[in-house]
Parts: sequence; C-alpha cells; structure tokens
Amino acid sequence: MDTVALVPAAGRGTRLGAGVPKALVRVLGQSLLSRAVRGLLDSGSVGHVVVAAAPDQLDLMGREVRDLGDRAHVVPGGGERTDSVRAALRAADRLVPSAGIVLVHDAARAFTPARVIRDVVGAVERGARAVVPTLPVADTIKRVDDDGVVAETVDRSPLRAVQTPQGFTVDVLREAYSAAGDVATDDAGLVERLGYPVETVEGHTHALKVTTSFDLAVAEAVLATAPAELPESRLDTPGSPDDTGSDNSRKVR
Ligand code: CTP
Ligand code: MG
Repeated sequence: MDTVALVPAAGRGTRLGAGVPKALVRVLGQSLLSRAVRGLLDSGSVGHVVVAAAPDQLDLMGREVRDLGDRAHVVPGGGERTDSVRAALRAADRLVPSAGIVLVHDAARAFTPARVIRDVVGAVERGARAVVPTLPVADTIKRVDDDGVVAETVDRSPLRAVQTPQGFTVDVLREAYSAAGDVATDDAGLVERLGYPVETVEGHTHALKVTTSFDLAVAEAVLATAPAELPESRLDTPGSPDDTGSDNSRKVR
C-alpha cells in the first residue's frame, strides 16, 4: 500500500527565536525540513511527502527538497497547524491519489529514527486505523489547584508522551479532519473523538520536537557524537523490542 507523509512546516518558530521559520534552521549544515523529509523517504516505508509551508516561504522550502523530484511536494499551509495538515491532506488526495496510508510528521521532529517511521507504517499495514509513537513519562507528575498548590500526585505508569509520525488510514484521517471544526495539536486526538482505537508503538528520544534553543543544542550534540546513526539509528531505548517482525503496537481507547 502506498504511503504519503504530510509534513507541517508552516510555523514561525517563535519560541526558538532563530529569526527564520524553524523548518529552515540548519543543524550541521542541513535544514530541519530537509532532514525530516529525507528521513521519511529514506526509511523505505514512505513513497511521497507533502510539505505545508507558509505561503511566503514556498520558494525557500521548495528549494530544500527540489532534488527529490516528484517524491516531495510543497504546498501552502495555514494559520494553525491544523490548517496546515488539512491543506497538505487535500493536496495529497490530488498529488498521490494511490496512497492508502498517511503519516503526519512535524518538520520540527527532524531526527526521528527510521525504525520509528517503519513501526508506525507497519502497524497501519497490519490493520491499525491510527497509530502514535509514545514514550513513558520520565518526570513525576502532579496535579495542582488554581493557587499552584499540589492537589495530588498522578500515577504516571499509564501515561505516555506522544511523538510523530502519527499514522492513519487515509480514510480515517480524512473523516477526522472533515469532522474537526477547531484547532488540535494532535491529529490522533481528532481520530479518538470519532471513537476509533489509536494504537501505540515505541517512540525514541531522538524524535524530540525542536521547540527551544535548548532542544536545538541537544540535537546538535547528539548529531555530533553519532552522525552515522541518525536518522537510521537502531540504538533504541534500552530494553525496547527489535523492529524486525515484532508487533510492538498497543491499543489506546
Ligand atoms: N506548523 C504548521 N503550521 C502552523 C503552525 C505550525 O505547519 N500554522 C508546524 C510547525 O512548522 C512545526 C509543527 O507544526 O513543524 C509543530 O509546531 P510548533 O513546534 O509549535 O512549531 P512553530 O509553530 O513553528 O513554533 P512556535 O509555536 O514556537 O512558533
Ligand atoms: Mg506553534
């Protein structure tokens, strides 16, 4: 089954404060956008990518992926991430009509290892309608009241932090976006609202979202120490299952 990945890249990168949209920020000479798109295509599980760029950045972002030919398209995004994903999905229907599986992957998660991408696609190929990569929550979590006083310590064992790429059958993501009238930060959240189960696969610390300059410094440090391991890294979190042939997905309801 053909897989198309939608890459929302139309944000301004305000919190990073680099003076250019985050997707154009270079790490060791290569932009986050270029790394994210190449990581998807090089994973071997993605045939085409549709990037949503800010309308005034179409040319600049197009230049970042020009050498990939018709495997990568750049289309205008919107004011909110939801609008950008919606625009990319509409473009994918037209540009890659054969796609049965769709991924949504933030340009800001440019260092996501191929193993995560393959696991997400694999879970959809095996029948999941929606899949997200997750990691256990490392910090202690507390609920606080309006005055900032701790009300309770939350059991974190069932909690997970969610990354991208998130994977869907094209039909389910289309249905979720046609039902969604408002803004959502998480595409799988829209699918949950329709009542479909959302499965999980193991995420990876390298799939961090670059939000602040600290995140960028972490990414640079990781790349500098292990240049050959990204995004093809198979150095998974200790104790994680190997990807070959294993079905490490779980259902979220
Ligand atoms: N995004 C998008 N369209 C928007 C807003 C965000 O395509 N209107 C994309 C960003 O480019 C990014 C991803 O969604 O790849 C996640 O958003 P975020 O990390 O918030 O990035 P920015 O919006 O660029 O950053 P900030 O909120 O700090 O301005
Ligand atoms: Mg934002």
